[in-house]
Amino acid sequence: MHDTKPATQPDQDEEVLEVKKFLSTITIVGAAALVLSGCTGPGAGAGAGDDELITVGFAQTGSESGWRSANTESMQTAFSEENGFKLVFNAADNKIEAQIAAVRGFITQGVDAIVIAPIVEDGWDDVLQEAKDAGIPVILEDRTLTADESLYAGWVGLDFKSEGVKAGTWAASTFTEPTNMVVLEGTTGSAPANDRAEGFDEAIAGSQITKIDSQTGNFTRAEGKTVMEGFLQKYGKDGIDLVYAHNDDMALGAIDAIEAAGLVPGEDIKIVSIDAVKDGMQALADGKINYIVECNPLLGELAAGLVKDVLDGKTIERATFVQDGEFDQEAAIAALPDRKY
Ligand code: AHR
Repeated sequence: MHDTKPATQPDQDEEVLEVKKFLSTITIVGAAALVLSGCTGPGAGAGAGDDELITVGFAQTGSESGWRSANTESMQTAFSEENGFKLVFNAADNKIEAQIAAVRGFITQGVDAIVIAPIVEDGWDDVLQEAKDAGIPVILEDRTLTADESLYAGWVGLDFKSEGVKAGTWAASTFTEPTNMVVLEGTTGSAPANDRAEGFDEAIAGSQITKIDSQTGNFTRAEGKTVMEGFLQKYGKDGIDLVYAHNDDMALGAIDAIEAAGLVPGEDIKIVSIDAVKDGMQALADGKINYIVECNPLLGELAAGLVKDVLDGKTIERATFVQDGEFDQEAAIAALPDRKY
């Protein structure tokens, strides 16, 4: 099969990619918030000797994927002491209760600001209200949540629905004969799993593609492999034409399962995925994945800028979107030598 849409290569020379800012803006009066919390300025919540630094609690999802590792590294670099921050880092191993407990710990500790990459969209109202009551501003990075917008200052991340639309648009234009597709979903209830499913389904509506099954692989390579093994057992070697994986790690797990079944990934069973991390891009360059939509994990600088602006009492955007690219095999081969993640 040939790509019918041109692939675009994002400009990797620009650390911070083109940012589309929209939606309404709000004013966060950081100074007032600090007065309310009894703090006197940045670093007031940290221990003695840290007065010059802004203490930020970062509640990361876990370490489920190559994307997540790159995101954590970007955050840790941006929130470094040389940039004026003291970062209190927590990775919740994708356990929702553990992530909420970590945020409560940041509140008790009296950090200056909290950044959250929410594992799932629902269930955040109470703890966000507690942060607001304590006068601690919250910034979301990467994933979104469903709590009222008044409970957090702003968000920076990717348009997950548009990523799903791009992947689905490629699939709908590539598969012009009846096609059986299985889906490896991300973590149930997470914004990327919800939005990437919705965007893809909209894009393939009325096409030759039939979704015959869909299960979560929790964004991990191991679970992607296990779920794909189950699909192959259930539908047989000839029963599946296409895999849509919500991230590269699950696509890589599917490749392992397809090869173990004696089939050729990218040929016998085509694969489209999202992320464009190095391992995924290498598999695309090798012809084992057929198309990848990018999800840029380098959000640290933008998140750190938002935190500083909020604490300085500046107006920030409600939502800051980072642009994603798309890659076919040729574009992956060209991009790999300079790929940062
Ligand atoms: O929230 C972004 C998603 O989370 C990435 O696509 C996935 O790889 C990660 O685990």
